[in-house]
Amino acid sequence: MDSLDIEIILKTYNTIPKNDIIRICSLYLSTKTLKPGSVFGQFNNVENSIIFDDIEKILISDSNIETEINLSKLHINWYVYTLDRNGPQNDNCEDESGEEINLSTQWILPCFDISNLWETLIYDTSIKEDLLKYASTMMEFASRGVDSNIIACNKVILLHGPPGTGKTSLCKALAHKLSIKTQKQYKKAILMEINSHSLFSKWFSESGKLVTKMFTKIKEIIEDPNILVCLLIDEIESLAHARDQCMSGNEPSDSLRVVNAVLTQIDQIKRYSNVLILTTSNMTGAIDIAFVDRADIKQYLGLPSANAIFHIYRSCIEELIKTGIIQAKSETYHYQNLKNVTSSIDEFEMTKHLVDISQISVGLSGRALRKIPFLAHALFLNGNSVNLHQFFDAMRKAVQHELQQKSHFNKN
Ligand SMILES: Nc1ncnc2c1ncn2[C@@H]1O[C@H](COP(=O)(O)OP(=O)(O)O)[C@@H](O)[C@H]1O
Ligand SMILES: [Mg+2]
Repeated sequence: MDSLDIEIILKTYNTIPKNDIIRICSLYLSTKTLKPGSVFGQFNNVENSIIFDDIEKILISDSNIETEINLSKLHINWYVYTLDRNGPQNDNCEDESGEEINLSTQWILPCFDISNLWETLIYDTSIKEDLLKYASTMMEFASRGVDSNIIACNKVILLHGPPGTGKTSLCKALAHKLSIKTQKQYKKAILMEINSHSLFSKWFSESGKLVTKMFTKIKEIIEDPNILVCLLIDEIESLAHARDQCMSGNEPSDSLRVVNAVLTQIDQIKRYSNVLILTTSNMTGAIDIAFVDRADIKQYLGLPSANAIFHIYRSCIEELIKTGIIQAKSETYHYQNLKNVTSSIDEFEMTKHLVDISQISVGLSGRALRKIPFLAHALFLNGNSVNLHQFFDAMRKAVQHELQQKSHFNKN
C-alpha cells in the first residue's frame, strides 16, 4: 500500500487529543479533491468549528502519486504540530576586547520563519524528496546504532552549485521537515547555523578558543538524546579555502589550527545519533578534499530549467493575484497545457505568454527569478490596477533588463 504524509499545523499549543484532530481532519479532507502539494487553510463555516479554530493549515505532501489522491487507498502518516514563533536566537560571546561575536544562530523547529520554505523551492527532479529520504534514513540508522564502520554513514550532507539556487534555503527546509518527520523520536529539535565568518574574524588571536567555546555549547545540547540537532555550516568553502591558503604558506599557522579544530570537532559530534550536519558550497572546486570526503550525500543544485521557472513564476503570480496587485482570476495553468489544448483560448494565450517568458529566463538563478515580478512592477508598470496581460509584458521587460545587467556584470 502506498503511503502519504499529511501535516496538520495547529495555531497554538492545545490540549485537544491528537487523535480527535486527525479524525476531524480526515473527515474534512474526504469531502475535498486532493492533489499532491494541496494546502488547506482559513477554515470558516465548517462544522466542528471548535477544532477548526485551532487549525492553521493542512498540508498534503508532494508525493510521487501523479493523479488525484484517494485517501481510503493509502496509508496516511499524520503529523500534528505547532510552529515555534519566537524567532532566531543568537549565541553570542565576548572576545577579549569585550566586543560581541555572534557564533551561531538557533531556531527551535518546526518554526514559523522556515515553515513554507520547502514548498517554495522548485526543482525539476525529486531532489527534495530524495534528500528527505536520505536524511530520515541517516537518522534511523544512527538511532538504531548501526555501526558506521560497517555501513558508511557520517550524517553529513553537502549541497553545492551556483549562488542563488536554493542551497541554504533547502538545508533549512530539510531540517524543518526532518524535525516534523522525527517528532516521535525527539521531544525537541533545533537548527543551529554556525557563523563560520565569526570564527575567522579573530584570526590572529584567540580563534582556537572561539571554536572550542562554540563546540562546547553544541555538545552540551546534543548530550540530551531527546533533542535533534541539525547543524548548518553555510558556504563551507570559506573554511576549507582558508586551509588551502594556509597550506601554501600565505596565512599564519593559527588559521590552519582553527580549520583543523573545526574538522576534528565535526568528526566528534557526528558520532552522536541525534545530529545531522548540513553544509553548502558555491565553489566545489575550492572545497578541501577533507570536507568533501566527509559528506555522504553530495547533491548538485543547478539553475532552473524553463519548466521549473514556469512553476516559480506561477507561484509569484498567484501571490500577486491573492494580494490584489494583479487584477485577475486565479487560474491553474500548467506548462503541460500547451501540449493538450483543452483549455479556453484565453487561458491558452496566458499560459503561452508565461511559457515564453520562462524560456527567455533560462540562465537566471532561483533568487533572481523571484525578484523579476518585483522589478516588473517597480520599473515597467504605472497605475494601480494591472491585469495579467500587462503584468506579463512588464515581466518580459524585467527579464530582458536583468539579463542585460547580468551580461554587463560578466563582462566586468
Ligand atoms: N529552485 C528554486 N525554486 C524556487 N525558489 C528558489 C530556488 N532557488 C532559489 N530560490 C529562491 O532564492 C532564494 C535564495 O536562495 P538561497 O537558498 O539563498 O540560495 P543559495 O544558498 O544557493 O545561494 C530562496 O529563498 C528562494 O526564494
Ligand atoms: Mg547560500
